[in-house]
Amino acid sequence: MLTRRRFVASATTVLVGAELTGALAQARYSRKPGVAAEPSAGKTVAVRLDAAERPVALPCFGGHALPLWTFADGEWPPLIRLNLGDRLEATLENHLPRAQESSSVHWHGLRLPNDQDGVPFLVQPPVQPGETFRYGFTPPDPGTFFFHTHCNTAEHLGRGLVGVLIIDGDITEPYDADRVLLLRDWQVDIESGRFNPFFTLRGAARSGTYGPLRSVNGTVNPQLALPASGDCRLRLINTDTTRIMQIGVQGADAAIIAVDGMALPPFPLASWTLGPGMRVDIVLRAPGEGRIARLIDQSPPGHVELAHFIGQGVARRMTAFDPAPLRAARIAEPDMKSAERLNFVFQSSESGQFIGDASDAQGAGIGALCLSQKQFWTINDRAWPDRDHARLPAPLAVLRRGRSYLLSLKNDSPFAHPIHIHGHSFKLLRSNQQKTPQHHADTLLLLPQERAEVAFVADNPGDWMFHCHIIEHQESGMMGYFRVS
Ligand code: C2O
Ligand code: CU
Repeated sequence: MLTRRRFVASATTVLVGAELTGALAQARYSRKPGVAAEPSAGKTVAVRLDAAERPVALPCFGGHALPLWTFADGEWPPLIRLNLGDRLEATLENHLPRAQESSSVHWHGLRLPNDQDGVPFLVQPPVQPGETFRYGFTPPDPGTFFFHTHCNTAEHLGRGLVGVLIIDGDITEPYDADRVLLLRDWQVDIESGRFNPFFTLRGAARSGTYGPLRSVNGTVNPQLALPASGDCRLRLINTDTTRIMQIGVQGADAAIIAVDGMALPPFPLASWTLGPGMRVDIVLRAPGEGRIARLIDQSPPGHVELAHFIGQGVARRMTAFDPAPLRAARIAEPDMKSAERLNFVFQSSESGQFIGDASDAQGAGIGALCLSQKQFWTINDRAWPDRDHARLPAPLAVLRRGRSYLLSLKNDSPFAHPIHIHGHSFKLLRSNQQKTPQHHADTLLLLPQERAEVAFVADNPGDWMFHCHIIEHQESGMMGYFRVS
């Protein structure tokens, strides 16, 4: 059995290596990202987000209607689409069917003013059933984002309370198609058509509870028609609470053009690890008329086909695949000479290890350890005090506004953790395990025992969550916040 001590020992013997560059990957493509898009004053888009229970028979539910919690009638997932420079005015109405089931909307990945960030207690009061809350902001960056609530999230997300937010204004030339693919599992017992528990002790103490039903836009392995031989932009969003996917494409050329909404020089997609909360935009050269290409999760033990694409119509492009890049992101460049270094260690608590090691995590012994608070995970040895946000601990760190920080992140556990920062996008500098091009991200997947370094300018004042996006980990302690002042 692997103990924590052994993990610490093995982790410290590995030096942070591999400086990340794109050189190896970019060789095949010629074009660099275009100049950053500046927002210019646009229109105001008003939307109503009516959080309520609605029976929905998604195609993947095999004829059952499940009591989803959604933000709107009609199509699931809902999509909000703006141009860069447009102002969004979103009114959340909480009509969730349970007394005290509070809510708020977090705009995942957006570098917003702090009071728009939607974290209850930290930046706004929780919105109780029957109450409303108005958000109003102008997103600063174009790209692929999503939104979700930020309390009891395992259940809220688990029941479908999520939406897609696209900010247009990042293309340098039109693609032949632009599609959103929302990837997620459902915690559904397919026979009975009922939800399984969204939070389990065993899952929370290990890699999370996997849903047995996988889907793309609410369908199992949908067939999507794309213009034959067209360069098609696919926006992949992993909104699952748990599952980490290794995205690949079979039967077509494909390139990554953005990570977490932020452009990077296009590079060939071989296999891209997409954890909960992460997005990747790819350009795929669609197959010829009537031909098929496949989107695959290459994670062991076997390949799972997530969706497949069929070419339709006359061939759009004859030239060799050299995908158009997006416009660069406008993220401030950290000053590495003056950057202050902060170390963060992500690991399990004693009780988390006990449960993780137990063969029957629901069984005896749990009471004896007094696990009613379910603190299984820590950041720098501190667990968030409760499953909700009501009892705020002190910040993990107080950062000076405008200053550059280098975060050294160390995963001292045998499970991966997608670590998400609010209100900022950090730059991945190096990792001892992953060889990806340098890029910006709001969520960095830390593999088991991985050490990575990221840097960012703390240029957005306020209190910003910093947590694992495996929601059962988040809700069992792996959550904290930075104060930028
Ligand atoms: Cu998408 Cu704090 O999360
Ligand atoms: Cu985690």
